[in-house]
Amino acid sequence: MQKKETDKKMDNIVSLAKRRGFVFPSSEIYDGFTAVYDFGPYGVELANNIKKEWWKAMTQLRDDIVGLDSAIFMSPKIWEASGHVKGFSDPLTECRKCHSRLRLDSLLEEFGIFADEKMGEDEINKIFEDNKQKIKCPNCGAQDFTPGRNFNLLVQSNLGNFTGDWSKEPTYLRGETCQGIYVNFKNVIDTARVKIPFGIAQIGKAFRNEITARQFIFRTREFEQMEMQYFVKPGEDMAHFEKWRETRFNFYLNLGIKPENLKWHKHENLVFYAKEAYDIEYNFPFGFKELEGVHARGNYDLTQHSKFSGKDLSYLDPTTNEKFIPHIVETSAGVGRTFLAVLSEAYKEEVIGEDSRIVLALSSKLAPIKIAIFPLLKNKPELVEKARSVFDELKKDWRCEFDDNGNIGKRYRRQDEIGTPYCLTIDFDTLENEEVTVRDRDTMEQQRIKISELKKFFSEKF
Ligand code: GAP
Repeated sequence: MQKKETDKKMDNIVSLAKRRGFVFPSSEIYDGFTAVYDFGPYGVELANNIKKEWWKAMTQLRDDIVGLDSAIFMSPKIWEASGHVKGFSDPLTECRKCHSRLRLDSLLEEFGIFADEKMGEDEINKIFEDNKQKIKCPNCGAQDFTPGRNFNLLVQSNLGNFTGDWSKEPTYLRGETCQGIYVNFKNVIDTARVKIPFGIAQIGKAFRNEITARQFIFRTREFEQMEMQYFVKPGEDMAHFEKWRETRFNFYLNLGIKPENLKWHKHENLVFYAKEAYDIEYNFPFGFKELEGVHARGNYDLTQHSKFSGKDLSYLDPTTNEKFIPHIVETSAGVGRTFLAVLSEAYKEEVIGEDSRIVLALSSKLAPIKIAIFPLLKNKPELVEKARSVFDELKKDWRCEFDDNGNIGKRYRRQDEIGTPYCLTIDFDTLENEEVTVRDRDTMEQQRIKISELKKFFSEKF
């Protein structure tokens, strides 16, 4: 069977990610560990650059948002208050023939039938029943499934459990980072000089027992979130919500994503407390899918934590003396999904005359390596020494890589695949005139620049 173009593009991105050290399957030497991935040497740089851009946009460039780094482990009561223990689930069905476990809403979607993970068990089972004839197991083709049931996604641990009875003393790895923000609301109000409206931003790991984890790093069981909760006066939330929608959409444009590859998806099935929920979707090789959620959550979160903790989480407005439980506008993005979106956007296969190349046209703020520095020949100490001295100087300001392996053409191709915007070559002429060749990744044009001018040149570029 011929592979679809979109599948081929995805395979090529996965292959490049592995080949060039961006993403490795977890525990690979032990045959892997489903739905968990590791970031390799270039992947960690790219992920860090994404996080840096988000942190800068959400904290440094604003005077109304402060940061937080709360712990992964929290009181289990938090997950009861938030509704996760009872309601954080996806619909699960099992193929009776091959015993594959499948997420029911995704299975229905594969056969063109609309379903939503937020639908109740009865509603989704009715749709399932009505369309039974059309649906086949993607693994064995059978048409015999168990009825859908809600499967809780919280990951339990045995932290602090000395009885071994998991049902009595469950502790959880956090299923979303924002709960750590809600429970620190009072601490932040008491210590930072913040006044409503203001936000708290956090980046950190979250864990979910995802039923089906496919599509590479799009849906994993361990992942990182970049979440911001914006606390506002009741009645003012929808105006802030609209502003945040615009701000967050522009964030992705600033990362170099084309507007035609982004779109909004409005949620029709809202959880009971939500006022409005939109997703920013990216046109991944497998279609438009959620990249980030922007949600108007009402005052549900702080109300619940007030109720369950017995602590007053209301806010006293210092100018009007009004007391109220703030409403929340949330922006919630995934590091892995943004990573996959920027990789998909940047990945290009180009034909150059008789030759071809793969290039990652990453924006220079995201590129893992900004400048690669090559001595023309590895076995000429005077060239290596000169190249080292250029590397030692430039690395103080930018993430650089020194490479003296193989011929220059191959070194260029390697850096193109990593997405390095500039390569510098030190040759015999450099020893005479102090000039190096600077090669541009996108145009592949080369120019000679004096070593003394390099810092000025790159300061203007980056
Ligand atoms: N606090 C709200 C919240 O967690 P969500 O829609 O469940 O909302 C927000 O998750 C974002 O986190 C998603 O848009 C996605 O980018 C990322 N995300 C969620 N589950 C994920 C998973 N299993 N693997 C990778 N990223 C995930």
